[in-house]
Amino acid sequence: MKNPKPSSKPKHYTEFLGVKALSSAHPEVKKLKYKNPNHSAHGNKNWRSSFVLMDYLKDNPPAFNDKVLEIGCGWGLISIFMSTYFANDIHSADIDPSVRPFFSLQSNINNANTRICIRDFTKFKIEELSKYSLIVGSDICFWDEMTLPVLKFIKRSLKTHVKRIVIADPGRPPFWNLVDECHKLGGEVFSRRIYKPWKTEKHILVINNEK
Ligand SMILES: C[S@@+](CC[C@H](N)C(=O)[O-])C[C@H]1O[C@@H](n2cnc3c(N)ncnc32)[C@H](O)[C@@H]1O
Repeated sequence: MKNPKPSSKPKHYTEFLGVKALSSAHPEVKKLKYKNPNHSAHGNKNWRSSFVLMDYLKDNPPAFNDKVLEIGCGWGLISIFMSTYFANDIHSADIDPSVRPFFSLQSNINNANTRICIRDFTKFKIEELSKYSLIVGSDICFWDEMTLPVLKFIKRSLKTHVKRIVIADPGRPPFWNLVDECHKLGGEVFSRRIYKPWKTEKHILVINNEK
């Protein structure tokens, strides 16, 4: 008997480090996009910086009991990766309510234990930030007017028990302006390349706050 042909059915997701990242061609994503056509701040897909941040976190993992805040989570790839790999208590925040169904779909497909809250992360108060020890974000400083609020958020976070802040970016000017300011706070930036699912290089800003 002949071997059956391997299935040529498209999967509509990219698998990276054990996490399924949905593509825009996924039938459920298409349905959601039809119902939620407007994203106010680019939460319309999984951005490549998040893949590079996952790769960085694989090699620089959180501590066992770190409480994590993901800012500008979009479809939640980083949160899904962290809850799956490290079982951290993770809170995911995004300002745009229209990303919620995409976040939930991607979370369900990965059987991940993640929840999104719709919040402007730049408005988090010191008391709230004090709950976290690690803050991560991917591609969250993309408009010129974002640099200052993100910087203020970082400065507020550094007054708390937050031990590390990690922000990945493709290298847009507002991010480099942020980096210039964060150098004064002890922040460091470096480039990181991945070769799969595609070859891409992004930049990672790390601010350590171990007292
Ligand atoms: C370029 S997307 C990146 C999404 C995701 N982090 C990724 O890498 O795939 C930027 C995300 O940040 C969110 N965002 C922008 N400003 C925000 C704010 N002040 N508070 C919370 N989320 C914000 C947007 O709604 C959007 O989902």
